Amino acid sequence: MIGFSRTPEDLSCDGVSLSAIAAAAGTPIYVYSAATLRQRYRDLDAAFGEYPHAIHYAFKANSTRALVAELKVLGSAVDAVSMWEVEVALAVGFTPRQIVFDGVGKSDAELERAVALDLKAINVESSGELARVEAIAARTGAVARVAIRVNPDIDAKSHPHISTGLKINKFGIPADDVLALLPGLKDRAALRLVALHVHVGSQITSMDPIRGAAARLADLARSAKRAGVTLEYVDAGGGLGISYDGGPVPSFGEYASAFVDEIRALRLPIVVEPGRSIIGPAGALVARVLDLKPRTASSEFAVIDAGMSELMRPALYDAFHLIEPVSARTGGLKQYEIVGPVCESGDVVGRDRLLTPLAVGDLVAIRDAGAYGAVMASNYNRRPLPAEVLVDNGTWRVIRRRQTLDDLLALET
Ligand code: LLP
Repeated sequence: MIGFSRTPEDLSCDGVSLSAIAAAAGTPIYVYSAATLRQRYRDLDAAFGEYPHAIHYAFKANSTRALVAELKVLGSAVDAVSMWEVEVALAVGFTPRQIVFDGVGKSDAELERAVALDLKAINVESSGELARVEAIAARTGAVARVAIRVNPDIDAKSHPHISTGLKINKFGIPADDVLALLPGLKDRAALRLVALHVHVGSQITSMDPIRGAAARLADLARSAKRAGVTLEYVDAGGGLGISYDGGPVPSFGEYASAFVDEIRALRLPIVVEPGRSIIGPAGALVARVLDLKPRTASSEFAVIDAGMSELMRPALYDAFHLIEPVSARTGGLKQYEIVGPVCESGDVVGRDRLLTPLAVGDLVAIRDAGAYGAVMASNYNRRPLPAEVLVDNGTWRVIRRRQTLDDLLALET
């Protein structure tokens, strides 16, 4: 059985009981399905068929070593957004030429290291950054490989915090300005423009913004060709949404075809930078009910031992994650406000949920928490970062241990 599946008595991950994992390793705990991770990667890979492509998994979604090591085995490359992510990728064994380096604010130290490593591309976000990269390369006698991130002024229609493709957003260089830059970018001694890059947002659930981004990318790639710049590939970014609530989302097939259809005539390989669509459905956050208390005439608070410190998405984006009891008790559905333990009213993990009856000590699973879950956890309220477990082929292992009090105090005098 692949992924999360249940009987009334127990929810399991790749056939291993979540109750057993929680009993042995404690809560709150992130549990990942290796089989789901592999299947999602392979499905996306297959969606591109024979068309030349490379999947640069977005480390920002979740870069726990054991997970990215699994992806590496499958042939994945890396999208990094800080030099720290680049260094982690190198530590895991990825080569510099498997790494594209994104990010709207890169320090000189990061750029110097990136140029020295000769990464597959530094994705630059402004003409100022382009100039800084060129200056560093010239000073060190290198030729910097860069991609230009285009801001296509496309509305991803996702949450405003994770929509990145509008002019008012801080990301990229407006398409018209890219057009103006292109002719000057051929035959530069210290700079090689290897790609154009677009990423219009995350958790995109309709095809329109994806098709729009593909068309804009193809347009600009044609302009680059006319300007005498020979690109090596185009970078289509990440952004494909997953279904948190059972609603429809575009398939890998639709996503891949949108880009392949536009780019095919240019005969350029396509790079994609998916994060959420690969790792999101592969993870759940398992928590224990600490307390129950009345709320309204028809609902109760269920206080659990995971909140905005372990999974920030509900508090930060009002994001919906399915929550289910690990063992379903018998009885009619009851209405619960599922809240975390953190001292903030906004620490609500699930609003007005109808669940089978809960009792103190019960376990709940917060689903689809593989992406932007553990990586966004914090020590707020001095809570230790939760442990992470990978289930693979009928067995499980801790891939990141829970922080201890010593860890929490280690950096302080
Ligand atoms: N490439 C670039 C340049 C990005 O900025 C991102 C995500 C990705 C790729 C990967 O996107 P994905 O395939 O995962 O949608 N914390 C938010 C999501 C922030 C996404 C930031 N950029 C959340 O929890 O929804």
